[in-house]
Amino acid sequence: MKFFDREKEIHKILSIIEGEPNLIYFIYGPINSGKTALINEIINNRLDRDKYVVFYINLRGIFISKYDDFMEVLFEVYEESFIDKVKRLFLSLINDSPDVIKSSTLLNITGVVNAIPIPKNTLNELLKGKEVKNVFRYITNVLMRIKKEGKRPIIIIDELQKIGDMKINGFLIYELFNYFVDLTKELHLCHVFCLSSDSLFIERVYNEAMLENRASYILVDDFDKETSLKFMDFLSEEILNKKLSDEDKELIYSYVGGKPILIETVINSLRYENLEDILESMLNDEISKLDMFLEILDYSKPKVEVGDEIIELKKEDIIKALKLFKDNYEISKKEIPTPVYIYLVKRNILFLNPQKRILKPQSFLVWNAIKKLLNGH
Ligand SMILES: Nc1ncnc2c1ncn2[C@@H]1O[C@H](COP(=O)(O)OP(=O)(O)OP(=O)(O)O)[C@@H](O)[C@H]1O
Ligand SMILES: [Mg+2]
Repeated sequence: MKFFDREKEIHKILSIIEGEPNLIYFIYGPINSGKTALINEIINNRLDRDKYVVFYINLRGIFISKYDDFMEVLFEVYEESFIDKVKRLFLSLINDSPDVIKSSTLLNITGVVNAIPIPKNTLNELLKGKEVKNVFRYITNVLMRIKKEGKRPIIIIDELQKIGDMKINGFLIYELFNYFVDLTKELHLCHVFCLSSDSLFIERVYNEAMLENRASYILVDDFDKETSLKFMDFLSEEILNKKLSDEDKELIYSYVGGKPILIETVINSLRYENLEDILESMLNDEISKLDMFLEILDYSKPKVEVGDEIIELKKEDIIKALKLFKDNYEISKKEIPTPVYIYLVKRNILFLNPQKRILKPQSFLVWNAIKKLLNGH
């Protein structure tokens, strides 16, 4: 699938990359809004590969429950040449650090890589030591080496929330943020972008005192209406070889809004189904899901963790909150009690924008399902 638009976001991110690293950037937005697609478009097609080395580490689909798991995604082992081995042994005699990078293998890192190269022995030492600061020291050495070669390193971590609750003597995420502040604000060595669709995680980050004035936020939202209609034109030309009528486009937008993946699904299905059936069936699936979610609330009491407390919620309060969306797509988060919105965000029904302090359904489909289902309530 060809990438469409996002020119404003691309321009912003490329401008940031061209400048000196100063801040940690958090790229956030609703589920499936296109965050990963955007960053991949930038690093694969828009960046000058002679100027940058990108470490793109995607934690999606990776099971991380302990230190060793995290190290496994972060690093990729390479075999040292004999000369490098001798050099390293010699250096470790005169220098107490876990390792100082002098390896020629590292000279070959170019373009986009999905892990940080590390000699096997060094990784083993780092695994034994369980000292995160040694890991960071190793990474800094790699980054400095890249800079010496005249290139700017960029670290991108996708789905960062996956290590949000992980502890290694204290929370790993705080150690990581401290390290990222070092890399950006202090050393100006490396750009750092963190992606997440978990808006509660982004809210926590946003309110984290340690990151004040050290982080910035980039929203990648679903497409607005104008862009969505253009995206439909683009896809119908590509996939169907024809134009859609304005009424059809309006109808599609009224069902699925500006979520790129949903628009794609509709246009793709148009190859073998008629529009009304496609849209009705998509909405019906969403209604069934929401209905099931509400039904279960009759039997198992919903609970949610707020700070250190576990709060039990009432079904009526959840219905009351959802009803607020009958006439509005967006509402102020102040209108829903904190435990209730936390629960609805956790269940992927609502999306929270911590910068604007608003809540909205995760998609137009969810919104339409809410309106249909709660009409009689
Ligand atoms: N700008 C775009 N042009 C074309 N297709 C897009 C675009 N943005 C998103 N898509 C489509 O939507 C799909 C989902 O996007 P993507 O995985 O990037 O979303 P995401 O925000 O990273 O999702 P998640 O919240 O799960 O991390 C992509 O695989 C692609 O098919
Ligand atoms: Mg993603």
